[in-house]
Amino acid sequence: MTHAGMHGAGPDRAAGRSPSPQDTRPSRSRIIALMNQKGGVGKTTTTVNLGAGLAELGHSTLIVDLDPQAHATLHLGVDPDGLESSVYDALLDPEASALDAVLELRPKLALLPAEVNLAAAETELASAPDRQRRLESALEPLLDLFDFVLIDCPPSLGLLTLNALAAAQEVVVPMQSHFLALQGVGKLLETVRLVSRGVNESLLVSGVILCMHDENTNHAREVVADLEAFFEEAKTQNVPWRHAKVYRPAVRRNIKLAECPSFGQTIFDYAAWCPGALDYRALAASIAAERIEKSVEPLKETAPTPEVTIRNTSAPSTSAR
Ligand SMILES: Nc1ncnc2c1ncn2[C@@H]1O[C@H](COP(=O)(O)OP(=O)(O)OP(=O)(O)O)[C@@H](O)[C@H]1O
Ligand SMILES: [Mg+2]
Repeated sequence: MTHAGMHGAGPDRAAGRSPSPQDTRPSRSRIIALMNQKGGVGKTTTTVNLGAGLAELGHSTLIVDLDPQAHATLHLGVDPDGLESSVYDALLDPEASALDAVLELRPKLALLPAEVNLAAAETELASAPDRQRRLESALEPLLDLFDFVLIDCPPSLGLLTLNALAAAQEVVVPMQSHFLALQGVGKLLETVRLVSRGVNESLLVSGVILCMHDENTNHAREVVADLEAFFEEAKTQNVPWRHAKVYRPAVRRNIKLAECPSFGQTIFDYAAWCPGALDYRALAASIAAERIEKSVEPLKETAPTPEVTIRNTSAPSTSAR
């Protein structure tokens, strides 16, 4: 058996695992796409460390690196240039199984890695009839093996992100608490709504994770209040974000979170008790504790067209950052 993990801890392929009868796992995974078309907002940091936090809590978790930058792969200490097989093969090669590409890197934590070739996938998939459903099909054999599947999306609304939305049950939006960051949220939600009407009727936005949060500024507090008011209003509308919330805790800005990827380590490997680790541990506990609402009605075409623009009319705060 070969593997591409750079850690010496003996990663093993998930293909060899068989679920044990005493497992309390649900029969199917909770599949969450971490999505925001804006770059540098904390998607990868959140995918990796939330995933590691869920694994630390005992939930078997698969991280899917769907970004050609392969940042989640690198963050977890895997060299994207040394892979035998990756998510690219799972998407493009009808003979390939995603199981063959999955690497078990830590207890309960596995990775479906990316390689830079993935950048070509958008073009190569463009003319395929099932181009939005390739990831959904590729993940199918993995779903009974994991409690959580977290998909790290690229910073775009292209075909790779659409594949993530088609495969996921939930969307979680990592974002920074800046007024400018709110501007893109309407577009993002509109994309989710279109996908939910087309290829994935039961897709729901579970909420927003605030990353690099400066909790003591009025500016950040006002953004949180705006978001909460927006989601509150959506509760009565038939939109995919009708159950969305602002997750707590917000993840504080913490330099250790920026340092640990260069060591190929999660925040729990690198500095298990720093503020970043505490925040992602608490966030993992709060996400693991929630139940996704199964009884919601799928969106009907007759639903009133929702207002997707964040109602942010206030001027940026002048408070110190
Ligand atoms: N809470 C935090 N505190 C300090 N630095 C952070 C925090 N969260 C993320 N960062 C840093 O901010 C930068 C962007 O984060 P990240 O790579 O997770 O964003 P992203 O949305 O995945 O970016 P991209 O759109 O390029 O994929 C990285 O250098 C990361 O280490
Ligand atoms: Mg990223």
